[in-house]
Amino acid sequence: MAQCRICNADYTEFINFGSMPIANGFLLPQDYESEYFFEMRVGFCENCFMVQLIEQPEREQMFHEDYAFFSSLSKGQQAHFKIFAEKLLGEYLLSDSSFAVEIGSNDGIMLQHIAQAGVTHLGVEPSENVARAAREKGVNTTSQFFDEDFAAKVIEQYGHADTISSANVICHIPYMHSVLAGVKMLLKPTGVFIFEDPYLGDIINKTSYDQIYDEHVFYFSVSSVANMLASHGLALFDIEHLEVHGGSMRYFIAKAGSREISPRVKAQLHLEKELGLEKIETYEKLRANIEKSKDDLRALLEKIKIDQGRPVIAYGATSKSTTVLNYCDLGPELIDFISDTTPIKQGKFSPGMHIPVKPPEELYKAEPKFLLLFAWNHAREIMAKEADFKNKGGQWLCYVPEVGILP
Ligand code: SAH
Ligand code: TYD
Repeated sequence: MAQCRICNADYTEFINFGSMPIANGFLLPQDYESEYFFEMRVGFCENCFMVQLIEQPEREQMFHEDYAFFSSLSKGQQAHFKIFAEKLLGEYLLSDSSFAVEIGSNDGIMLQHIAQAGVTHLGVEPSENVARAAREKGVNTTSQFFDEDFAAKVIEQYGHADTISSANVICHIPYMHSVLAGVKMLLKPTGVFIFEDPYLGDIINKTSYDQIYDEHVFYFSVSSVANMLASHGLALFDIEHLEVHGGSMRYFIAKAGSREISPRVKAQLHLEKELGLEKIETYEKLRANIEKSKDDLRALLEKIKIDQGRPVIAYGATSKSTTVLNYCDLGPELIDFISDTTPIKQGKFSPGMHIPVKPPEELYKAEPKFLLLFAWNHAREIMAKEADFKNKGGQWLCYVPEVGILP
């Protein structure tokens, strides 16, 4: 039994994905021998309802000067964060002395708009290469990991914050109590902490188990978030369900008692109870669905690639795909290569299974009949961009929410 990072209770493992590499650890053959693996097991805490990885690699193994994920490569995400920045500017950053902090600001996809509006801001981004890209856009960025000690230094240098925001980062940080203590200390009395992460309800509904990988140590629900805030004098006052990353939840948090709580919070807590997010049986069912998805995907690829001898190329070398490839044991014998627009991934090989990653030009040259959609969360953007492939009779293979050919 492991101990819950939030409430210290013993909690129950419900799935073991086996040996996993670093999800964003794209590598060259000379590095295969020293490639790092850990056992990826997931558990559910029946006391505070948190779903979490049992073991997570050290943060420096995942976030460093060669971090492979650049937020701004997706046009959809650019639009998403522009709208979010406008919300911050229009509702919370209204005075001349306003100060905005972002935790995990990556290449400045969101903060660039805050910077352009002339508002004092600070991006906290430990991965130096993406932090540099943000600075080049005029975003004030420090290459640090956010925690309580760091929050104290921010207060010394800049004072307290009106907004602390974070997207797809809070679920990455195992030392949650230090983060929440830092947030509480850094916020002005009227300040807000707004974060968004992939939503557990969507992961369960869609069997999108590929959201589970080393970086994501927590899989949040409204009930588990409300529970983890309680001991810090912080309160969840509103939520917003988002389409991004296959279904995310945005959490609006303030010092307890400082804001009215929206009825949406209570309604979602009720819905989560009905969905069974507070029961271990739900996670046992999820495990069964994941195992079926694995069998179905292998069978589909074996039919096309081995029985019919037709090439399969994958689209998007996502972190998520590292879980699918390694868990389903899909290697170069089933997938010819992965096409990806990220320069730092191109010419390298996928973590663990060592499938080549190539630029999209190679995909167009190959004129494939089958594309396996790894970046399924960007489906709308990709379908529009790749309409030609479909028009010429190409077929998209997908595994979320079910294994099959996209209609
Ligand atoms: N916010 C962006 C990037 C998400 S990727 C987006 O939504 O697209 C996660 C980012 O969090 C990475 O850039 C990583 O370097 C950063 N990160 C990880 N741990 C962190 C921590 N403790 N403090 C601040 N940033 C962190
Ligand atoms: P994403 O799904 O955003 O993230 P994660 O790594 O968190 O699973 O990653 C999208 C990947 O897909 C990224 O490497 C860029 C690539 N990509 C393309 O190759 N073409 C595209 O049109 C888009 C939108 C993304």
